[in-house]
Amino acid sequence: MADTEHLAISQLDPHDAAGGLKLSTEAHWNQNEADWQFFLTKGIVFGTRDRNGNLVATAALLPYTETDAWISMVLVTESWRRRGLATRLVDACLNTATKLGLTTWLDATPDGAQVYGPLGFAPTIQLRRLRLANAPGSGGAPLPAATLTEFLTCDIGAMGFDRRGLLQELSGRAGSRLISNGDAVALVRDGRSARHIGPLFAESSAHALAMVRNVAAAESGPLLIDAIAAQTVFLDGLKADGWTIERPFQRMRFGRATVAGTELPFAVAGPEFG
Ligand SMILES: CC(C)(COP(=O)(O)OP(=O)(O)OC[C@H]1O[C@@H](n2cnc3c(N)ncnc32)[C@H](O)[C@@H]1OP(=O)(O)O)[C@@H](O)C(=O)NCCC(=O)NCCS
Repeated sequence: MADTEHLAISQLDPHDAAGGLKLSTEAHWNQNEADWQFFLTKGIVFGTRDRNGNLVATAALLPYTETDAWISMVLVTESWRRRGLATRLVDACLNTATKLGLTTWLDATPDGAQVYGPLGFAPTIQLRRLRLANAPGSGGAPLPAATLTEFLTCDIGAMGFDRRGLLQELSGRAGSRLISNGDAVALVRDGRSARHIGPLFAESSAHALAMVRNVAAAESGPLLIDAIAAQTVFLDGLKADGWTIERPFQRMRFGRATVAGTELPFAVAGPEFG
């Protein structure tokens, strides 16, 4: 670890979007430049550079409210791994969160969970990332738009806190669609390599599946969804429709439990946003 202790941790700014995108692309993540711009303008992003000034590691703290924040974009380029950089950067996020009185949450990859457990993060719910290699794009009636207010009400019920800034940003991008079929509401947005469905809220598994089928019929190309693992009927339905599980994510919390959500969603906004 000693050989990285001389590397300074600095706070990044929007000029670092390209360097951040290089790291998330190396890890085959789906974030695009707009995601990085959001973190770098609305969040507090820490990074480490090599002697040539290239970004080699990052971690972001995204405060949602006065009580809760998300940690994400914990990335270390392959040649700099296992030297303590992720630990130092997440520690920097936690120090900032503690000063601000924030409980922090994150959705961990299996490798990430190895870093966060020793830092004091406790596991909560599990997620599954699923991919549909090729949405059929078979057409069908266009789905009616959901209002942001309707969507926010569901999101607050699920998260226990208000992510208005995030959902306004994600749903307002060109290419994003906020949709409702009466029994389910969902956001569909662009990613670097695949369109992403989520958050998805519904009355029942059947309604959630119907919504995903409607979206797949209207889309072409690859689709991703981050489903709540406990929604087993929904997950089984997705697999029967040709979706395959790519990886698990473990949601973890650091700090006291704040207001808990009461409604379990079917899919989340993405591991980087919760
Ligand atoms: C996960 C990741 C961020 C870890 O970065 P890192 O700088 O190598 O992590 P650290 O050096 O701080 O690791 C601290 C400890 O965590 C554990 N750990 C880290 N990576 C691990 C791995 N791949 N497998 C098992 N344990 C691991 C080890 O106990 C390690 O201590 P040690 O090296 O003394 O044994 C890095 O592998 C990465 O960028 N992976 C791809 C993207 C990703 O999954 N990010 C996490 C998102 S939640």
